[in-house]
Parts: sequence; C-alpha cells; structure tokens
Amino acid sequence: MSAYLSNPHIWQESWDRQQSAFMPDREERFAAMLEAVAATSDGPAPRVLDLAGGTGTISLRTLARFPRARVTVLDQDPVLMAIAAASLRDRAEVVDADLGDPGWRAKLPEEGFDAVLTATALHWLPAERVATLYGEIREVLRPGGIFVNADHMPEESLPTLSERLLDHQRAQREARYASGAATAWDDWWDRAAADEFLASKAVERGRIYPRNRHGQEWTPPALWHVDALRVAGFSEAGVLWRGGTDAAVIGLR
Ligand SMILES: C[S@@+](CC[C@H](N)C(=O)[O-])C[C@H]1O[C@@H](n2cnc3c(N)ncnc32)[C@H](O)[C@@H]1O
Repeated sequence: MSAYLSNPHIWQESWDRQQSAFMPDREERFAAMLEAVAATSDGPAPRVLDLAGGTGTISLRTLARFPRARVTVLDQDPVLMAIAAASLRDRAEVVDADLGDPGWRAKLPEEGFDAVLTATALHWLPAERVATLYGEIREVLRPGGIFVNADHMPEESLPTLSERLLDHQRAQREARYASGAATAWDDWWDRAAADEFLASKAVERGRIYPRNRHGQEWTPPALWHVDALRVAGFSEAGVLWRGGTDAAVIGLR
C-alpha cells in the first residue's frame, strides 16, 4: 500500500511544509481569515467555500476552528484534489472546476456561502478574469458574507524593500531545502508522480498544467484588488492582513 493510501495526512503535511517554505507566515493569514469568519458568521456552522483550495488546508483549518462548518473545496488539480478528498473524507465536498471558466458556479452544490476564502492561487489568472471573478464570487455569498483573498501583493511604493524581503525569503527557503525541513516545489511534484496512487492523477495534471506551471504570475498590489472588489459590487473592501510582500484583502457583500 502506498504512503498515500495508508496515510493521506503525510501528503497533506508535506504540502503544508512545502508551501510554508514560500510563506513562513502562511498560518497567520489563515488565522486572520478565520477571525473574520468568526466575526461575520451568524452561528457555529458557517458555510465556507475554499476556492482553489488545493489539498484543502484552509478547509482543515476551518473545521478545526468550527467543527460544525459546512465546507466545499473547489480546485482543478487532480493530485491535490485527491489528497483533499482523502484527508477531508465526508467532512467536505470536493468540486472539480476551472475558475478561468465562468461556468464554475454551476458546479457548486449550493450558494449563499458565509465566506469564500482563497490563498496563493488567483495570481495565476489574468487581470480581466480576476476582476470578473470577483463579481461572480460576490454572487455566491449571502448578503453580509465575506470574501478573503490572501496572495502575493507587493507594495508599489516599496520596490527596494520588497526586493530585499524576497531575497531574504529566498535565502531562508534554500536553507530549509538544504536541511531537509521542506521539499522544493519541483521535487514535491516528482515525489507525487512517483507515488503508487497519485501517479495516474499526476498524468492527468500534466494535461491541465503543462510544464508543472499554472500559467502567468500576475501580482498587483493590494490596492488593485481593493478597487476591483469595490467595482465588483462589494459594499466594503480593504486590507485585512499584511505580512512582508503578501497581503489578504477582504470584501463584504
Ligand atoms: C499554490 S496552490 C494553493 C492551494 C491552497 N489554497 C493552499 O493555500 O494550500 C494554488 C492552487 O490554485 C489552483 N488553481 C490555479 N488555477 C486554477 C483555476 N483556473 N481553477 C481552479 N483552481 C486553480 C491550483 O490547482 C492549486 O491548487
């Protein structure tokens, strides 16, 4: 039996370490998101959509904080969705949909979410698509629901400092790889492709993400996102959290 089948949590944990090597404050942004969910939800069972959720880390953190939450993970990566399905089991619904296609909403089991949460994902979509997607996300929220997007959002007014922060982060990341504390991006995917169960999923994935890349990387500053959220019709929009060159923006329906 493969490591995956005997214990999907091993893959989940190694994904988290691999991502945390890029974002040492990854858990802080998730905690900020869940604080906002706690502050805006009507009760102990919020309905949460983990958008481009990958292995479902945000879903797992949501369920740890709100054990009665109703969670949906949406993604299109067969490898990451397989890990999400195995580690979340019947605690969440896993939906296969492409956010580049406006039809993604039709694949949801329900709408009227209390919160739509996403991290480190939308920078792979083109600007026009992100702006339109913000309007679509607003539509799947209940009135008073929130959307939070945490991603790379460097400040335009801090070009030198941003470069230094990124250099510093890169050096720390390399040290983690060298010590074996985390697996580098390409190595992580090579390991997944070599796993007995995940190998076939990795072949499918290669058709969706050729060359192991999601597409272009477009990382405008937080204020671009705040403006786009306002234009998309959110009644309030602003920065919820900031850490180095990353930030989380929030919109209130
Ligand atoms: C770096 S991962 C982050 C996953 C998760 N949010 C986390 O923080 O661990 C980016 C995710 O975005 C997903 N993604 C990228 N483009 C997408 C699209 N067009 N439709 C659905 N998911 C997409 C990828 O499949 C991947 O799971």
